Amino acid sequence: MRSPGRGPRRRASFSRPRRSMRGPAFSRTCLHTASCLLKEAPRRLKGRTPSGQRWLVRQLNDPFARASRAHAYRCRSAFKLLEVDDRFHVLKPGLRVLDCGAAPGAWSQVAVQRVNSAGTNPELPRGTVVGVDLLNVAPLDGAHFLCCHDITDSATLSRLQQLLPDARADVILSDMAPNASGFKEMDHEKLITMCLTLIDMAEEVLLPGGSLLCKYWDGFLAHTLRERLSAVFGNVRTLKPKASRKESAELYFLARMYRKQIK
Ligand SMILES: C[S@@+](CC[C@H](N)C(=O)[O-])C[C@H]1O[C@@H](n2cnc3c(N)ncnc32)[C@H](O)[C@@H]1O
Repeated sequence: MRSPGRGPRRRASFSRPRRSMRGPAFSRTCLHTASCLLKEAPRRLKGRTPSGQRWLVRQLNDPFARASRAHAYRCRSAFKLLEVDDRFHVLKPGLRVLDCGAAPGAWSQVAVQRVNSAGTNPELPRGTVVGVDLLNVAPLDGAHFLCCHDITDSATLSRLQQLLPDARADVILSDMAPNASGFKEMDHEKLITMCLTLIDMAEEVLLPGGSLLCKYWDGFLAHTLRERLSAVFGNVRTLKPKASRKESAELYFLARMYRKQIK
């Protein structure tokens, strides 16, 4: 309801996209969706816990969450990979991609589009996307998912290799994150250990010249991970995509030009 004495209702600020939101990823549709959701907000807040209400308000105010709904991505993290790939062109038609920690499947959706693994463009080479997660992942045209599997379990790798053509990958993606315990250093260490597992896995599947994009939480072991990556990749850089929340310790290493031969 409008409060008395106020001037005419101002248009909500989301009606004019900020400069960073312009471009193909942000359409009129997503602004429309946002306006509908905000109108519904008071009803949707009812019956939620305070933390649930905070989460909903953050989602409603988040341009990337709105854009992911408008573009039918399974979650907002799609925009992190889209940004990285727009800058560094890691995903190309015909490539084989291994997506670690794939659920709910937004990165796999991006990978399917970029490597043409659904064969959407018959004139381009058709790639492969294989995802793995501890959780179930809903089926996605153009991707194979190995669900309820732990990447740190040695048996998982051979199952993944069976799904990859010639048991090889050109790109390993990892947006994996363990369940946060609330103890920052412990969580950081756990995620770094998972990333180190990926380097071992690369020895078995990643083709020379290949790339690895992995998420980590910043902390005292980040330099160790970077050193381990630099020992086997020609180029390693640290990235913080715009869709990664500023308050999050989340960062990504993009390691390119894998130098080792597969064992
Ligand atoms: C942030 S989500 C990934 C989101 C995904 N990139 C997307 O765009 O939909 C992190 C995922 O990592 C998975 N994960 C955590 N530890 C894992 C492990 N040891 N093996 C496989 N998946 C794991 C979690 O189950 C969770 O689904």
